[in-house]
Amino acid sequence: MALKIGRNDPCWCGSGMKYKKCHEAFDTKLEQLRQKGAAVPGHEIIKTPEQIAKIKESCKINIAVLDYVEEHIRPGISTEEINRWVHEETIKRGAIPAPLDYEGFPKSVCTSVDEVVCHGIPSDSQILKEGDIINVDVSTIYQGYFSDSSRMFCIGTVSPEKKKLVAVTKECVEIGISKVKPWDPIGNMGHAVHQHALDHGYSVVRQIGGHGIGLEFHEDPWVSYTSMENSGILMVPGMMFTIEPMVNMGRDAIWTDEKDGWTVRTEDGLPSAQWEVTVLVTDTGCDVICW
Ligand code: MF3
Ligand code: CO
Repeated sequence: MALKIGRNDPCWCGSGMKYKKCHEAFDTKLEQLRQKGAAVPGHEIIKTPEQIAKIKESCKINIAVLDYVEEHIRPGISTEEINRWVHEETIKRGAIPAPLDYEGFPKSVCTSVDEVVCHGIPSDSQILKEGDIINVDVSTIYQGYFSDSSRMFCIGTVSPEKKKLVAVTKECVEIGISKVKPWDPIGNMGHAVHQHALDHGYSVVRQIGGHGIGLEFHEDPWVSYTSMENSGILMVPGMMFTIEPMVNMGRDAIWTDEKDGWTVRTEDGLPSAQWEVTVLVTDTGCDVICW
């Protein structure tokens, strides 16, 4: 049994303020919405101001590592080279690459080229060539706090079709960000992302989505980018999650390579793109804390 928190007790969020001056009104609102049938988050995924500060430190490293990749990526390098950069640039900053050994993942970063949707494994034998598009997905653990973001890179001159896929996928994320409003259901965000992809004749992967993040690599909620409006958990201040749609040029169907257990590809072999940011829901909208 949980004891009800007293109004003059310190708030559960760790702000040091009295509950009545801090999250009491927030909890009342959540409870009222829950009673009206809304799916509401538990306190365990609402970040405290201290946690937010720590997670943002982790994000800074994640961003710096991706900036390094952005400056150095070019035709002729292997995806293993990207893995070395990510590993070294992360360690140098006192952090740990989250993918390494995560559920057996063998490398420090995911590198997904062309028809690879996600979770591509860097390799010495995979050389980037003119015309490739690649997603580099970096995740960092710093002092126990997690961050996660990914970017697309066009290698040399890329076909107009692939360039457009990359650009529209980025727009999908930007539209998703604009739909993160406190107390709205998260389905509104996913629906807008999906709609933009559909408007361009693309599809969005259904089986793999985004996630809460911060104290763990993958926390609740699971986040869909093919959701219905007015569905899903409410986005409330202090929640953090990723916006990372995988947008396919052709059909949404995907398959996972049984040989390595990780590499996810499009079934039709057509290219797929993904950008990933992490957002913190605020009182007015959201902060993009990792990109
Ligand atoms: N970074 C991926 C994400 O956005 C997770 C990759 S898990 C790994 O959730 F093990 F493949 F790295
Ligand atoms: Co992610």
